[in-house]
Amino acid sequence: MRISVIGCGYLGAVHAASMAKLGHEVVAVDVDPVKIERLAAGDAPFFEPGLPEILSEAIESGRIRFTTDMSEVAGSRVHFVAVGTPQGPTGAADLTYVDAAVAALTQYVAADEFVVGKSTVPVGTAARLATSLSAAVPGATLVWNPEFLREGFAVQDTISPDRLVYGVPSGAAGESAVAALDEVYATTLAEGTPRLVVDLATAELVKVSANAFLATKISFINAMAEIAEVVGADVTALADAIGHDARIGRKFLNAGLGFGGGCLPKDIRAFQARATELGVGESLAFLADVDAINLRRRAHVVTLAEDLLGGDVTGKHVAVLGLAFKPNSDDVRDSPALDITARLHELGAVVSAYDPEANGTAARIHPEVHYVDSADEALRGADLVLVLTEWNEFRQLDPAVVAGLVERPVVVDGRNCLDRDAWTAAGFTVRGMGR
Ligand code: UDX
Repeated sequence: MRISVIGCGYLGAVHAASMAKLGHEVVAVDVDPVKIERLAAGDAPFFEPGLPEILSEAIESGRIRFTTDMSEVAGSRVHFVAVGTPQGPTGAADLTYVDAAVAALTQYVAADEFVVGKSTVPVGTAARLATSLSAAVPGATLVWNPEFLREGFAVQDTISPDRLVYGVPSGAAGESAVAALDEVYATTLAEGTPRLVVDLATAELVKVSANAFLATKISFINAMAEIAEVVGADVTALADAIGHDARIGRKFLNAGLGFGGGCLPKDIRAFQARATELGVGESLAFLADVDAINLRRRAHVVTLAEDLLGGDVTGKHVAVLGLAFKPNSDDVRDSPALDITARLHELGAVVSAYDPEANGTAARIHPEVHYVDSADEALRGADLVLVLTEWNEFRQLDPAVVAGLVERPVVVDGRNCLDRDAWTAAGFTVRGMGR
């Protein structure tokens, strides 16, 4: 099928390359000429495992084309909208890019074609866009098909997702939209992926409520960590024990620095803002606590670092291991790790920060921090070690070797990812989260 993808960020670039991988002929559009040039040369503009491979394969097969020229989408049967919906100044989602993309697309979409939203939007956006699309192009149909991909697993989550959700209008238009999307995802559906057909509002809500649930689950366990810290209990053992209850489940119950990234923080804030607009703000009042618990984890680590350094971090050498919001990513958007690093620097600590992939992205936001090229370099002479992102490289560090590099053997395990016994045996004071 001829498919267009508008927006070549984390979501769009992966979606476009994945659609080519599924055998479609794809034209991918972005307003940023630098990004388009890099993608056209097979160079992924961000770190995402598996993306370089499917991108090169798509380019070599001639099934993908990158352009800044929106008119090239003409003739595609399905047009995916995968642009960003960043957090606006009030917390509500900024829909500038979605509105602009749909308005620009409208000029080239024909009757019987489908505009398929993938971006995360406030509920009600799709209905509004459907009205403007059908006024401009009678016979074209607007559909919402939310994306649930996790960074680091984005390719796998796009090609073999947990489920496909189609938000479609009722009647014949909805039926042809389902048929078109079934053709797009034929390979995925043949693997037995569940497919749910719902109305537009439900599709929009599925996405934000899934993220709200995940954020709540993380903040729940971090709230338990706060209590465990006071009574001397172990939140990891607690998570293991409650996680055995299949109704609760062990996934997403890792206490630590909390959630960051380009989705969960902004999505829970936008969801609250939308609920308030709709007059049902009370229904999501709990998300303000979810956000507050999450942000408290960062403050807690800064205080802990101060305590471990004798009450004042000024002039003290702090080794920071990890800057990305999670491992296998170079993304530092709303990253707890980078936030803590910048605060300690601001407080006067002499920070040496290292991340296997995110030094560059971090330096763009916090150029004042000192970044180094290896864990060893960060660790040399440190008065305190902070492990802030659970990269395998840090899990696998040999504590005996690290002990030989640092000035004082004290480590804060911000992600509860180290082997406490091994580090303790090597002479370290180990402070975990909620343990
Ligand atoms: C998330 C959703 O998982 C995905 O379905 C949605 O499409 C986009 O948002 P992503 O932002 O890639 O994906 O990251 P995710 O793996 O969900 O992790 C989010 C944050 O939560 C990370 O900072 C991670 O470190 C943190 N986290 C996750 C915890 O602190 N504890 C956990 O148990 C799990």
